[in-house]
Amino acid sequence: MDIITTVSDQQKYCKSIISGDKGISLIPTMGNLHKGHESLFIRSTESDNRRIASIFVNPLQFNDAKDYTEYPRSIENDIKILEKHKIDCLFMPEVKDIILDRENKTECLPDYMSKLCGQYRVGHFNGVFEIVKRLFEVICPSLAYFGRKDYQQILLIRYIIKKYFDNNINLVECETIRDDFGLAMSSRNIHLSVNQRKQSSIIYKSLCSIKDQIKKDINYNFDKLRKELVSKVKNENIRVEYLELLTSENLSKPSRKKDENLTLLIAFYVSNIRLIDNIQI
Ligand code: PAF
Repeated sequence: MDIITTVSDQQKYCKSIISGDKGISLIPTMGNLHKGHESLFIRSTESDNRRIASIFVNPLQFNDAKDYTEYPRSIENDIKILEKHKIDCLFMPEVKDIILDRENKTECLPDYMSKLCGQYRVGHFNGVFEIVKRLFEVICPSLAYFGRKDYQQILLIRYIIKKYFDNNINLVECETIRDDFGLAMSSRNIHLSVNQRKQSSIIYKSLCSIKDQIKKDINYNFDKLRKELVSKVKNENIRVEYLELLTSENLSKPSRKKDENLTLLIAFYVSNIRLIDNIQI
């Protein structure tokens, strides 16, 4: 596997691939790779593109400096995992090289990006926007792989691709991978004890149960369902930050029409660890 650490080398590398008539598949990550990332690497074998993974802990998307410094980093093990999956190239740039000074211009993101995580982690999605757009500019992928666990992030990537890349990048949205307790895989799970992971299994179970109830009865009372979930998980020492049922297309309020695609999204704290999850209804 080639390991590239500068933007200019990465650009040269990508240019030579594209001029040799091959496409590029990009799997962007912040490292500390786990089974969720591995499912993206496996999925990316579907095309004969060159497969590039990036590892970059993006300071712009952390609204809390402590969260940034404490974000788990495990580069040696990550390299082993990437090699196991026969990834062609790892791009791991330095902050100063990859982050541009865009003269303090902040992108005005669509309204739905200021809901949910956008509301509780102010500036987070502007940070994700900056780095993903930049990675797309440097690497010029034809395919890009992202997990649906961060559903609001998926909406942001769709927005970036449409607005800045003329829909010329194919976004491959990959299913959420869960551990044996049903907890969605996340680099942050490393901070949880086995017991806390067991306790957290209540989240996925409760989301599935709400889904069943909504599907059964179009006249569901979501406020009541939310209250029940919040009090049930409180017994397991889990605090819910938000739980919302919104349209999958743009996170607006459901109209209760039969054919509407809805997503149930949650953010919650286990001790001081903040996690997110969602399921499609
Ligand atoms: O989902 C992530 O790991 C990050 O938000 C991403 C897309 C790599 C951007 O830093």
